[in-house]
Amino acid sequence: MISLAFDSKTGQLILIALLVMIGSFYTGTLFGNNSTLLIPSSSSLSESESSSSGNSSFRNKVVLTYRTKTISIHEVGMNVCPLTYNEYIPCHNPSYIKELLPKLNVSRREELERHCPPLNKRLFCLVPPPIDYKLPIKWPTSRDYVWRSNVNHTHLAEVKGGQNWVHEQNQLWYFPGGGTHFKHGAPEYIQRLGNMTTNETGDLRSAGVVTVLDVGCGVASFSAYLLPLDIQTMSFAPKDGHENQIQFALERGIGAMISSLSTKQLPYPTSSFDMVHCSRCRVDFHENDGILLKEVDRLLRPNGYFVYSAPPAYRKDKDYPLIWDKLVNLTAAMCWKLTARQVQTAIWVKQENRSCRMQNGDNMLVNICDAVDDSKISWNSPLKNCIQLSHEREDKRILPLRPQRLSIYWERLHDIGIIPVYVYDRH
Ligand SMILES: *[C@@H]1O[C@H](CO)[C@@H](O)[C@H](O)[C@H]1NC(C)=O
Ligand SMILES: *[C@@H]1O[C@H](CO)[C@@H](O)[C@H](O)[C@H]1NC(C)=O
Ligand SMILES: *[C@@H]1O[C@H](CO)[C@@H](O)[C@H](O)[C@H]1NC(C)=O
Ligand SMILES: *[C@@H]1O[C@H](CO)[C@@H](O)[C@H](O)[C@H]1NC(C)=O
Ligand SMILES: *[C@@H]1O[C@H](CO)[C@@H](O)[C@H](O)[C@H]1NC(C)=O
Ligand SMILES: *[C@@H]1O[C@H](CO)[C@@H](O)[C@H](O)[C@H]1NC(C)=O
Ligand SMILES: *[C@@H]1O[C@H](CO)[C@@H](O)[C@H](O)[C@H]1NC(C)=O
Repeated sequence: MISLAFDSKTGQLILIALLVMIGSFYTGTLFGNNSTLLIPSSSSLSESESSSSGNSSFRNKVVLTYRTKTISIHEVGMNVCPLTYNEYIPCHNPSYIKELLPKLNVSRREELERHCPPLNKRLFCLVPPPIDYKLPIKWPTSRDYVWRSNVNHTHLAEVKGGQNWVHEQNQLWYFPGGGTHFKHGAPEYIQRLGNMTTNETGDLRSAGVVTVLDVGCGVASFSAYLLPLDIQTMSFAPKDGHENQIQFALERGIGAMISSLSTKQLPYPTSSFDMVHCSRCRVDFHENDGILLKEVDRLLRPNGYFVYSAPPAYRKDKDYPLIWDKLVNLTAAMCWKLTARQVQTAIWVKQENRSCRMQNGDNMLVNICDAVDDSKISWNSPLKNCIQLSHEREDKRILPLRPQRLSIYWERLHDIGIIPVYVYDRH
């Protein structure tokens, strides 16, 4: 049975987090360059509101409109982009990226990152839904079914149907809960990860996992099946040859973002996740001196897990053994501990061992980042090829599980200027 352990508080928190994410995503595009946004005065706003009940003066057009120097929104609303733009996502436009390609570092997968065109090439019309768009099916049914016409892609089902990502079923997309690495369904795979992190005695939740970052999430079935354990997952994947996988995830009602591990830090603060998960995520963690593993190190909480289910962890052919050796050396230099390697998965723990990190830094095995500036905003920051030393006071500070976690004051908040205020005492 799937019990949805979502209390309303958690729901609100997630909603706020999503709003903040959406907000930060769009501020980059809409308000990025100090140009003024002209909004109609309140009198004309109420006029347009009243005209929506009567329809005489509603004059919006379907027309491709680009951003002008000072954005102006007409009194009666905005223009609607042509239907062919129904898949348009700001700063993820394949034809613009093709134009940029000669300037991008493809060996670092820079082409998968966000690239915003110059101001005058940014659309400024409302993106229309596809033809025959229907109100999305509600959770929990949407975990398994969404309307076929709401996500007008077929390529993913064609190439990934055999791995049980998604199948077409008449008017619906059906998600059997599989993935490239877990063809037989995410629940069994998740149980195995629980066994591996607890010596067969518990599940991921009892291993202390509450927040997960899923790298290269596909249609995000992993996240969907962690919910019954009350584990919250942020999933991301690039908009790549598989078309937009994230659109399936979002249509299912699973939180996800278009993003990639390439040249920039992910937009999350240091120590955000109890687990970073990659199953066949097609990220070359061993390349470039392990700079992407160092980003994972930044994102992981002390004693957090890095779960790696990919061919180098289990195959002996091609150059997989060499890649595995590189991963072992890089993770050892960062003082991670390989705690389990079985079936097709390897799991490391980001151990809290300050002296090990200092020692490896002194021996030039790894770079230690300059004076800890982990309160700096990670949005659009280049990756750093170094690891941080933990604050000494944090060494013994392991967060408890929820609900206690929601109300404790973590001292790191102090560094970003958040001071606890005790308004009243319940006792
Ligand atoms: C909108 O306009 C149409 C045709 O002009 C009219 O039949 C309809 O009643 C109007 N709707 C409202 C809500 O005024
Ligand atoms: C791409 O990045 C790699 C790794 O940092 C670097 O060695 C290479 O010179 C870069 N290539 C270009 C074309 O900038
Ligand atoms: C889906 O896209 C195709 C072209 O890519 C188009 O012909 C078709 O009308 C679209 N279907 C819907 C439901 O929007
Ligand atoms: C996990 O461990 C339990 C108890 O030891 C066992 O019954 C179960 O089959 C294991 N699950 C997997 C997927 O290995
Ligand atoms: C599992 O057992 C091994 C060997 O007894 C031990 O070293 C390891 O710390 C245990 N791991 C967990 C998560 O309890
Ligand atoms: C890993 O480290 C060992 C010992 O320092 C070294 O001999 C080996 O060449 C390294 N392997 C790779 C693939 O870098
Ligand atoms: C920390 O690292 C040092 C140096 O690698 C090692 O000697 C020590 O045993 C480690 N401590 C723990 C608690 O693992």
